[in-house]
Amino acid sequence: MTEHEPRDDLARTDPRYGRPRPDPAMPTVHPDWDPRGTQVQVDPRRAYDQMRRSCPVAMGSSGAWTFFKHADVRAAALDDDTFSSAVSAHLQVPNGMDGAEHTRFRRLIDSYLDHQQMVALAPTITTVATRIAAGLHVPGPIDAVELGSTFAVQAQSAWLGWPAELQDELVSWVAENHAASRALDRERMAAVAQWFDRIITSVVTARRELGDAAPLDVTTELIRDRSLGRELTDAEITSILRNWTGGDLGSMALCTGVLLTYLADHRDLQLRVRSGVSDTELDAIIDEVLRIDSPFTANRRVTTRHTVVGGRPIGPGERVFLNWTAANRDPDAFGDPDEFDPDGNAAHNLVYGIGRHVCPGRELATMELRALLRAVLAVTEAILPDTARTRRRGRPPVGGYESAPLLLR
Ligand code: HEM
Repeated sequence: MTEHEPRDDLARTDPRYGRPRPDPAMPTVHPDWDPRGTQVQVDPRRAYDQMRRSCPVAMGSSGAWTFFKHADVRAAALDDDTFSSAVSAHLQVPNGMDGAEHTRFRRLIDSYLDHQQMVALAPTITTVATRIAAGLHVPGPIDAVELGSTFAVQAQSAWLGWPAELQDELVSWVAENHAASRALDRERMAAVAQWFDRIITSVVTARRELGDAAPLDVTTELIRDRSLGRELTDAEITSILRNWTGGDLGSMALCTGVLLTYLADHRDLQLRVRSGVSDTELDAIIDEVLRIDSPFTANRRVTTRHTVVGGRPIGPGERVFLNWTAANRDPDAFGDPDEFDPDGNAAHNLVYGIGRHVCPGRELATMELRALLRAVLAVTEAILPDTARTRRRGRPPVGGYESAPLLLR
């Protein structure tokens, strides 16, 4: 599961969407695996590789299916009539929406993240990255996930126009969000979600109070947006901002951990990037490293009708996880999944999803990651693995690394 979504397992039959209830005539399916089992906790990526080989369409002990194969994940993401995104009882704009409702909100969201806006934003993000890199102690140790978290908070705050005073609180929030997810503690996860909503409400309320004097930035623009023919409700604004920040701060931190660790472990690639690559080449390198070790594990769907996937009958109203991490390592799509081949693998890369819910933040995320990589490379001669400290893998639903100690020289 990703962090884009509140973690509830409610509403398998949300009446708003008229989804069918599970078919009582369907035979009971016994679990094939435990998505929280020991092997998955130790190294989720390897465990998913193993599942893809042994049981590519698997019923989990929580009663949800997981698709591990590239072809099945891709087909389900493209078939949004059969695999609905209305998985939650909570409003989720736009990721919990289907059909025409999704299209309307998605158009609005895309307008904030289009190419022109990203080109205009790039210098601001580069300034943030350069400032953070200048503050690093070189030579010295870092944790790449922590560095990513600090950068993500400052970059997203710069984009949205959020006050600097909030940044420490947001960094603490990212850490607590990951910890609560890993602990699988529902009360703690609910508290962390409410904490984030309070942060967003404080920002929105301050803008509303300022009225015409509110700063002209993305947050104010969203509050005043009338492209749907009306103003957005507070719940819609909160949901959109939660999606743009709550989930993506964590994802950006994890992506930074994976990228810097990969460069530390692959000196040839690091030297190649240091010797000067174009933005296009660097973006392709970033995409390919994230394909090999995709920290954004899975998204949920719920079936709307009978279907058969990988030979297994699935009834209506069944919960499904599309496992991007496993799909991105499927030898049927990529040959040797660990072979680094940005050009050869780009067409099948599913790091940012596919279909109507494909990530609208892809260009923003890539631009931010590129800016941070360039800034860190500029203040160092080498990024090295730190063998004295323990590198720890992220545990589901969080991928990548929980802690990624590296040495800067
Ligand atoms: C850091 C790297 C990121 C990764 C790996 C990532 C990955 C993804 C994936 C796989 C999806 C598809 C979800 C699905 O099919 O259910 C998605 C959707 C989405 N992403 Fe990202 N994302 C990233 C960053 C961002 C950023 C920076 C933003 C915005 C600021 C963003 C906003 C969204 C939104 C709003 C959706 C839902 C789209 C919809 O339902 O139509 N993401 N993302």
